[in-house]
Amino acid sequence: MSNDSQCRVCGGAVREFFDFGRQPLSDAFLLPNADQSAEFFFRLATGICGDCTMVQLMEEVPRDRMFHDEYPYYSSGSAYMRTHFEELAKRLLATELTGDDPFVVEVGCNDGVMLGALADAGIRHLGVEPSGSVADVAAAKGIKVRKSFFELSTAEDILRTEGKAAVIYAANTLCHIPYIGSILSGVAALLEPTGVFVFEDPYLGDIVARTSFDQIYDEHFFFFTARSVQAMAARNGLELVDVERIPVHGGEVRYTLALAGARQPTAAVADLLAEEKADKLDDIATLRRFGEKVLATKHELAALLSGLAADGKRVVGYGATAKSATVTNFVGIGPELLPFVCDSTPAKQNRLTPGTHIPVQPPQAFSDPYPDYALLFAWNHADEIMAKEQAFRESGGKWILYVPDVRIV
Ligand code: SAH
Ligand code: TMP
Ligand code: ZN
Repeated sequence: MSNDSQCRVCGGAVREFFDFGRQPLSDAFLLPNADQSAEFFFRLATGICGDCTMVQLMEEVPRDRMFHDEYPYYSSGSAYMRTHFEELAKRLLATELTGDDPFVVEVGCNDGVMLGALADAGIRHLGVEPSGSVADVAAAKGIKVRKSFFELSTAEDILRTEGKAAVIYAANTLCHIPYIGSILSGVAALLEPTGVFVFEDPYLGDIVARTSFDQIYDEHFFFFTARSVQAMAARNGLELVDVERIPVHGGEVRYTLALAGARQPTAAVADLLAEEKADKLDDIATLRRFGEKVLATKHELAALLSGLAADGKRVVGYGATAKSATVTNFVGIGPELLPFVCDSTPAKQNRLTPGTHIPVQPPQAFSDPYPDYALLFAWNHADEIMAKEQAFRESGGKWILYVPDVRIV
């Protein structure tokens, strides 16, 4: 079956290369007594645009279903990510924010993990964040937050009240936004002539190289490359002037856009474009091979878990990530294989995972008593979690990973 759709960047034809089937909203954790027949599902499938090469979902979930007052992802939940954002804030202070009273806008500021550091430094700022749950946490820290979706009309409004921005920043947010033309025209209107739009998101090159298929879920609509971002920028009066590979969340790229002609692109842009060309990241055959590896991982993980269950081993999940919705629903992992998943986020605890209805428990449940194996859904936080849970391994426990392949460590 091949379903075409229209590219959300350029209107070209998008050809499908993988179908995960019926999937729930990745962050819709159910109350135990919820009406399960009301759960929302959609077809999660990916394709590539034959014109601009943007990889994207074939079907879009309405934004209000995903980002609302009960959105349960709090960015400050990882110490490693807190440091990552503080370091970026320091770098911006030393480079882009040295002018007279610079203004910074963050799109998707969440609980203020990045803007907090700029606010502390006295920088004039505004976070734009539609999810009330996390926006309220940012506001309570003294950060200025506008509780709405960022789009062209928001940008025009901010321009009227605050003036132009030296820096517009978005982490793990731009890839969430199908109506991206509105975002980029808003950015182009709001930027100072020498200002920059910096954004970082999961990198298609890393997803393909490491078969990290769980980066694909409702909220991740686009999977960027330097090439697709360059084309997208050019359509909106912007230009890709720098790229930087960063190790967070399993491999991301931090892109810097400027108004077209305002800055000289760095050599890093040409280097990454050349690497993508050599790796044939724009070729649907490469993406179909990725799909074959995804199926192999699915069968291996299913076989491992059912084998362990047959041997009487106790396995639990670690990290009720949004990513894990794709893994559990696609592989077919329910409470009979994983009696619970533990997670440090209070808003997820004592609820059920979307679609597969595995109970979510606080981290204290992990050691009570330790299981034989833990399936690490938060594999992008492996160092932090394994260090914190050293006693698990000392008790004889083993971790199960599935990126880049299924293995026990
Ligand atoms: N920047 C944080 C949060 C990423 S989660 C981090 O890197 O950890 C994505 C965030 O984008 C959510 O908080 C969501 O509410 C927000 N978001 C989604 N659509 C948005 C839009 N159009 N404008 C602003 N924020 C948006
Ligand atoms: P993420 O991979 O999308 O950042 O989500 C990480 C999830 O894992 C989030 O729900 C918080 C949870 N988590 C823990 O339970 N313990 C931890 O030590 C860390 C870092 C995250
Ligand atoms: Zn396109």
